[in-house]
Amino acid sequence: MHLILLGPPGAGKGTQGALLTERYGIVRISTGDLLREAVREGTPLGRDAKRFMDAGELVPDDVILGLVRDVMSRVDSGVVFDGFPRTIAQAVGLERLLADLGRPLHAVILIEVDDEELVRRLAGRRVCAECGVTYNVHFQPPRAPGACDECGGTLVVRPDDSEDTVRRRLSVYREQTAPLIGHYRAGPVPVHVVDGDRPMDAVAADLAELLDALRA
Ligand code: AP5
Repeated sequence: MHLILLGPPGAGKGTQGALLTERYGIVRISTGDLLREAVREGTPLGRDAKRFMDAGELVPDDVILGLVRDVMSRVDSGVVFDGFPRTIAQAVGLERLLADLGRPLHAVILIEVDDEELVRRLAGRRVCAECGVTYNVHFQPPRAPGACDECGGTLVVRPDDSEDTVRRRLSVYREQTAPLIGHYRAGPVPVHVVDGDRPMDAVAADLAELLDALRA
């Protein structure tokens, strides 16, 4: 099964995508995670991408499509795309890629959350510098403040989670990514809207119901 998780920064795409991987064994491809890995490794791509990411802007489409094409060549199971596509050009690129690979797209899942809640969530997000597990000081705190439950690593604030950058990311979402909703609604793939402004378990239960229906 191939799914797209669409939604603004902080909507819970990463959180829910990880749960879908756990529950259904589908691979999560997060372009944000791929880019952060390249930044950590200091590759030329990572060095170029960092200035866009730190400013809350989108990394150029050709870079993103190259990354996804490369990962997809190594994945032969179902995939949930998290944070990709983010522009119409990326959506068209994904359509071509899936057609080349003979794999259909089954659904687009749009997670909707109010802007002020998004700003609050992202201000509270903490990420383990060692293993990448995500926490939230308001909604999902670690057992010991500042330390990862899984590996004991230090929890850090993502560089693009400052309030100004979050607001820029939200504008970029409205201008460049939200048009994808109309793009997909005009096409053959169903678009399911999930109210993400609820506790994580409630959102996860809706997604599980949806996936069970899609798999039936
Ligand atoms: P990316 O990493 O994709 O960031 P994003 O889309 O802005 O999404 P986030 O990771 O901020 O949020 P999320 O929806 O995954 O929420 P999460 O589950 O973490 O991209 C970063 C940057 O990389 C971009 O700005 C861009 O520069 C570049 N980039 C990436 N992909 C690109 C592409 N395709 N094209 C071009 N550029 C690209 O949750 C957030 C917080 O809320 C967490 O603390 C979590 O614990 C908490 N939370 C989650 N759900 C709930 C809930 N239901 N209730 C309360 N708290 C919750």
